[in-house]
Amino acid sequence: MPTTKPELLISEESIQARVSELARRISEDCPAGEELLLVGVLRGCFIFLADLSRRLTAQARIDFVALSSYGQATRTTGAVRLLMEPRADIEGKHVLIVEDIVDTGHTLHYLVGILGARGPASLKTCALLRKPSRMEKKVTIDYLGFDVPDRWVVGYGLDCADRYRGLPYIGVVNASPE
Ligand code: IMP
Ligand code: MG
Repeated sequence: MPTTKPELLISEESIQARVSELARRISEDCPAGEELLLVGVLRGCFIFLADLSRRLTAQARIDFVALSSYGQATRTTGAVRLLMEPRADIEGKHVLIVEDIVDTGHTLHYLVGILGARGPASLKTCALLRKPSRMEKKVTIDYLGFDVPDRWVVGYGLDCADRYRGLPYIGVVNASPE
């Protein structure tokens, strides 16, 4: 069982201010009278998406996908699989993918590829966090919360072996789940 308290990296106040700012920009950029389809990437997105969606002034529907990236142990293979399809039809929708963190970029790159092939009216990406030093796949993040260093970050939905997701802040732990 983990006993160490994660070291504070991004405070609850900073996260909340940034989420409000992202929601404002996303709403402003939404074409007038159009509806967004938010596609959250389970499981790490669940708290970010909950807060973000409640601050949008644009109309939005909410859906989810589940992906498996690189299994448990092989962090560098870049193999991604879709474990759960979105329920909504993507064609003709203004889709916004909502991710917790972009690390190597393989997951988001793969998802942009498969959803982009389904004929959305527009396809944009939003990620709370990004580790720029680990980026292997070039992928555009239209709405980014924060860049973080190459450490294992937890809290606000992000986990280490499914722990720490409920922390209200982003912290770092010395372990990684691998
Ligand atoms: P990517 O395909 O390497 O960009 O991996 C992205 C996924 O790996 C994220 O959606 C997270 O689920 C997970 N991940 C990567 N780094 C971290 C971290 O520091 N903390 C928690 N999850 C992470
Ligand atoms: Mg994720």
